[in-house]
Amino acid sequence: MIKFDQVTKVYGDKVKAVDNVSFDVPEGNIVVFLGPSGCGKTTTLRMVNRLETITDGKIFVNGTDVNSLNEIELRRKIGYVIQHNGLFPNMTIEDNVMAVPNLIGWDRKKKADRYKYLMDLVGLNPDEYRKRYPHELSGGQQQRVGIARAMAADPPVMLMDEPFGALDPVIRTRIQNEFLQIQQEVKKTILFVSHDIDEAIKMGDAIAIFQNGKLMQYDSPSELLAHPKNEFVREFVGKDRALKSLSLHTVEDLISERMLRKLDGNENSNKKTISVETNLRDALSILLNQEADQLVVQANNKLVGAMKIDDVEAYLHQHIK
Ligand SMILES: Nc1ncnc2c1ncn2[C@@H]1O[C@H](COP(=O)(O)OP(=O)(O)O)[C@@H](O)[C@H]1O
Ligand SMILES: [Mg+2]
Repeated sequence: MIKFDQVTKVYGDKVKAVDNVSFDVPEGNIVVFLGPSGCGKTTTLRMVNRLETITDGKIFVNGTDVNSLNEIELRRKIGYVIQHNGLFPNMTIEDNVMAVPNLIGWDRKKKADRYKYLMDLVGLNPDEYRKRYPHELSGGQQQRVGIARAMAADPPVMLMDEPFGALDPVIRTRIQNEFLQIQQEVKKTILFVSHDIDEAIKMGDAIAIFQNGKLMQYDSPSELLAHPKNEFVREFVGKDRALKSLSLHTVEDLISERMLRKLDGNENSNKKTISVETNLRDALSILLNQEADQLVVQANNKLVGAMKIDDVEAYLHQHIK
């Protein structure tokens, strides 16, 4: 769906911001560009919608060379979300969300329906916010409006540059989860910039990790964690990559291989109930923080057994090193 073919970007005549980068993104996938500040993530992203010119190589969206499209066509096909949402401060929320449909001349009815659909999708009441201005909204609400605006003309492709970077951790987690749910419904092809490995693991079907403009590794999160290709990736991913990769496995995965225990009926035992869909990193963190010394596992509100820290450890040793 998106193809980078030996793409290079040089600013001025010396700064090689992106260096001979090639990769393919399948339709409906989220690929996260990951790496330290200045490694070329934003530049790589902005060449896709031609906010930066390509010095060398080609980028294709759905088989079409982006350089062969005019800019209006391109903006219609590609939604763009940035960290500080880039809303127009002196336009109402409705006008912000409908900026692209206004530009390309949709009729009133189509715009009204679309506005309502998008605001519902991002969890904001369409009528309540219609006439408000961006500064009257919280950071999290503004970011949702930014997402709605980027999706207005239903582009198949979205570019998101650290879209949740300015939000505090609690709101950020919530918006990440909501966004993944929206993605289940809309199935866009998304390029998503982050400098945070945890966010990349959570959001990405694949991760592209950059250093000094070079693509160091392009793999699924679990591959990247299990087999970092070189020292740079290993360092960036961090020493606790075994623990991180636990977030990609659920209690259900564990159950498929190990029998759960019988519930320890001891009165003094501190229990907490979790569902089989809980990821093993969250399960382990409950046990490590001593919120509970055994977890009572439920599937469809039925008890299926209990697990303790040893069970997670055994799974970790078997699968992840
Ligand atoms: N407009 C520009 N002019 C000159 N150099 C730039 C420009 N934009 C970015 N750069 C340089 O290109 C490199 C990559 O920058 P960028 O793509 O913004 O990285 P990232 O998004 O990973 O932080 C950096 O060395 C940066 O200083
Ligand atoms: Mg950047």
